[in-house]
Amino acid sequence: MILTQNLCKKYGRMVAINEMNLSISTGTVFGLVGENGAGKTTALSMLSTLSMPTSGYAYINGYEVSRDPRSVRQSIGYMPDSFGVYDELTVMEYLRFFADCYRVDRRIVKRRAEELLERVNLTEKRHTYVNALSRGMQQRLEIARCLMHDPAVLILDEPASGLDPKSRLEMRGVLQNLRDMGKTILISSHILNELAEVADEVGILRKGSLVVIAAIQVMLQHSSAYRTIWIQGFAPHGVMKRLLSQDQHVLEVCEQPDGWEVLYAGTLAQQAELLQRLVQGGVVVSQFREQPTDIEQLFLRLSAVQEGTW
Ligand SMILES: Nc1ncnc2c1ncn2[C@@H]1O[C@H](COP(=O)(O)OP(=O)(O)OP(=O)(O)O)[C@@H](O)[C@H]1O
Ligand SMILES: [Mg+2]
Repeated sequence: MILTQNLCKKYGRMVAINEMNLSISTGTVFGLVGENGAGKTTALSMLSTLSMPTSGYAYINGYEVSRDPRSVRQSIGYMPDSFGVYDELTVMEYLRFFADCYRVDRRIVKRRAEELLERVNLTEKRHTYVNALSRGMQQRLEIARCLMHDPAVLILDEPASGLDPKSRLEMRGVLQNLRDMGKTILISSHILNELAEVADEVGILRKGSLVVIAAIQVMLQHSSAYRTIWIQGFAPHGVMKRLLSQDQHVLEVCEQPDGWEVLYAGTLAQQAELLQRLVQGGVVVSQFREQPTDIEQLFLRLSAVQEGTW
């Protein structure tokens, strides 16, 4: 349903998207994760026909974004990262306005609007002015707006940004609901954990390049095989590092002013043996404990291992 081939976007000499190859099948919820400036908005705006690729191709529903932008627009609902609100329109009028823009058959507009408001939990607000809605409500209304012409694909640029925890949860519920409708959804976020509950697959974007693409379940399973261990102790210079590097399950050692952070891929029993070897090797261990591992960081590290940059 969504396909890109060596898709590139340059701003002058700056490469914002570098040779992106992505294939998202019908009904999949795909999360694009990356920190600020990674290129999420650039990628999504090319797929939404709002900015032209410098080179490469992008297809939505079989239509190429540069060659057939009109058909692409009929196939997508795009929610940008920021949007203005229309004063003096009620929620219902707002949805009707967009339905007219997309030439939706007037006979079905009212029913569809009511259905969508139900899905995004805004039925009670249907006669409220749009500018009187809270931010979370406006964001949910935007999603309903994107669906008024019943597109096959939804492209959502950080739909949960700026929301408080409760509104984030509500947004998550709405997204799960859309997934159940069978829509293909491409959604960006700078927090991988936030997508864990809604996405089927995730791609991590770093400085314009897709560094990892994996099924979220595989990512989560994978991440449970790794632990971050925090070790504090006293040892003659170099001893700690030597002992740690001798353990084949130690993937990375990060020395901090007051201790060592170790990325570990062994079992709990092997972890206990490591502690034993440290003590036997002369380290006076004051702390040896597990720390929560940030799965996004973990995958960035693992992808760095694959690139051989560790
Ligand atoms: N119109 C533009 N002109 C020049 N450079 C741009 C333009 N738009 C984006 N960029 C640059 O492209 C890079 C990617 O920006 P983009 O907005 O796609 O990142 P993002 O992942 O969406 O970030 P954020 O999480 O902050 O929304 C950044 O370095 C940005 O400065
Ligand atoms: Mg952005």
